[in-house]
Amino acid sequence: MEPGLTVNGRTRDLGDVGGHVTLLDWLRSTGLTGSKEGCAEGECGACAVLVNRPDADDRSRWTALNACLVPAASFDGQEVITAEGFGTPETLHPVQKEMADRGGSQCGYCTPGFICSIAGEYYRPDRTPIAQADQGAGAEPSRDATAAGRPDTNGQGDSANAIDHEHGPNGFDLHALSGNLCRCTGYRPIRDAAYALGVPDEGDPLWARREQRSPAPFATKITSTYGAFVRPLQVSEALDLLANNPGAQLLAGSTDWGVELNLRHARAALTIAVDRLDALRGLEIGDSVIEIGAALTLSEIERGLAGRVPILAELFPQFASRLIRNGATLGGNLGTGSPIGDAAPALLALDASVILASRSGEREVALADYFTGYRQTRKRPDELIKSIRVPRPIAPISAFHKIAKRRFDDISSVAIAFALRLADGTVEQVRIGLGGVAALPLRAFATEDALTGQPWTQQTVREAADVLGAEGTPLSDHRASAAYRAATLRTSLLKFFAANAPSALQEV
Ligand SMILES: Cc1cc2nc3c(=O)[nH]c(=O)nc-3n(C[C@H](O)[C@H](O)[C@H](O)COP(=O)(O)OP(=O)(O)OC[C@H]3O[C@@H](n4cnc5c(N)ncnc54)[C@H](O)[C@@H]3O)c2cc1C
Ligand code: FES
Ligand code: FES
Repeated sequence: MEPGLTVNGRTRDLGDVGGHVTLLDWLRSTGLTGSKEGCAEGECGACAVLVNRPDADDRSRWTALNACLVPAASFDGQEVITAEGFGTPETLHPVQKEMADRGGSQCGYCTPGFICSIAGEYYRPDRTPIAQADQGAGAEPSRDATAAGRPDTNGQGDSANAIDHEHGPNGFDLHALSGNLCRCTGYRPIRDAAYALGVPDEGDPLWARREQRSPAPFATKITSTYGAFVRPLQVSEALDLLANNPGAQLLAGSTDWGVELNLRHARAALTIAVDRLDALRGLEIGDSVIEIGAALTLSEIERGLAGRVPILAELFPQFASRLIRNGATLGGNLGTGSPIGDAAPALLALDASVILASRSGEREVALADYFTGYRQTRKRPDELIKSIRVPRPIAPISAFHKIAKRRFDDISSVAIAFALRLADGTVEQVRIGLGGVAALPLRAFATEDALTGQPWTQQTVREAADVLGAEGTPLSDHRASAAYRAATLRTSLLKFFAANAPSALQEV
């Protein structure tokens, strides 16, 4: 069968698109020009589309993604909705109608992307109107439960009805829009539109679609002038391909690789998609370890862990945007070997290890030993990351501090993760992971030594903060100076102590 996908309910041939053609470029080449290119690097969301992805209980979930980052070839056999696929000018979709009624669009460049991100949240299965949630678990679900979010008549705007700064009374999580930029309307009318949405009608076909499975991944092989794209269905097949082609480009969420493609014009002779391999998509929560599949997206991990690993629960909302987290994986974050990836410091503090798989078997490498230099790791070219193993019990006191220029959708200047266990007011065990202060992610071993066995007091912490400030070999670059990075290390430990001082802990 020729490679193809379903867009807005209509099947279209993919043709011989190589791994370098993004879904956005391909969509626009078919005449579907609603999706726009603003930045081509995942920052603006003008390209956002909805993709039908697997969800629990054999259901599916409409997931918003940046079409500018992902190869079209990876959607062989899949279902995609673009802004053109919602309503018609005569019968607007509820998301379009609220945006139009509330003045959520001016020049319109960002609007198709906003429509898709808002629709992803509109159809989120567990989006629960606050009024309904307040009535308790036994309350009858109401399709009209968002009346609290209807146009305000008191002149204070819908924000007067909002539950907090980031959630609407209809349960709308504003973080769903953290990857969408608008440069002329202003965000208030867009937020008002989002907070005014009700629950989808029973007859809404996109709502009903979620009751069925998402399309299974297709075994895909497309060859073009610029190289081949292959989606194996078995991990053994992927490992054979990797063994025979050690220079091949592995592809998961493509949120890093997509930037390489677009901005640095990288081309791979062979791209191997591993994002839908079952063997890389498990989440096992055992008594002694939690094993996280390398190809689960961050959004999937966040849902699956449901706060069981507090340090990750703190990290996820600070990682890029919802659009990026819907595609990005831990395998990809560790696969780049980047010294400023956010997962490494958190996983170092958790004492995690990676499971590396090759045709000759599997091996476990402690993350503390995994990074060997700037973007260098112990992973061999014939290996892929299969999973990340986090030992239990998880340290009871932890924090993830991300220092970046913006609160959301920004890369860390410095990232620091703490995991602490106290016994009778003394530091029994502490692990500190650092990113952005050396050519590779680090454990702050000297600081850990300075703290371990000492009383958890301000004096101990002040002395240890000086040690932490001297860990790493920070550089000055466009994000931060070396001196600033060193200073943030120091103050980060002081902040961690302030939040977890003995008096505060006793209160807990
Ligand atoms: C706008 C934007 C914001 C971002 N913000 C952040 C941020 O806040 N924090 C942060 O840490 N990162 C951030 N990133 C970087 C990126 O999103 C992450 O590194 C992400 O985790 C990469 O995962 P992926 O699945 O998309 O990787 P991909 O792009 O698919 O792959 C990245 C690399 O990892 C390799 N790889 C992928 N899977 C595996 C595997 N299973 N085994 C071995 N190698 C593998 C690939 O071969 C490739 O070289 C951002 C990126 C963008 C575009
Ligand atoms: S074009 Fe800006 S995020 Fe895709
Ligand atoms: S309406 Fe112009 S950029 Fe948003």
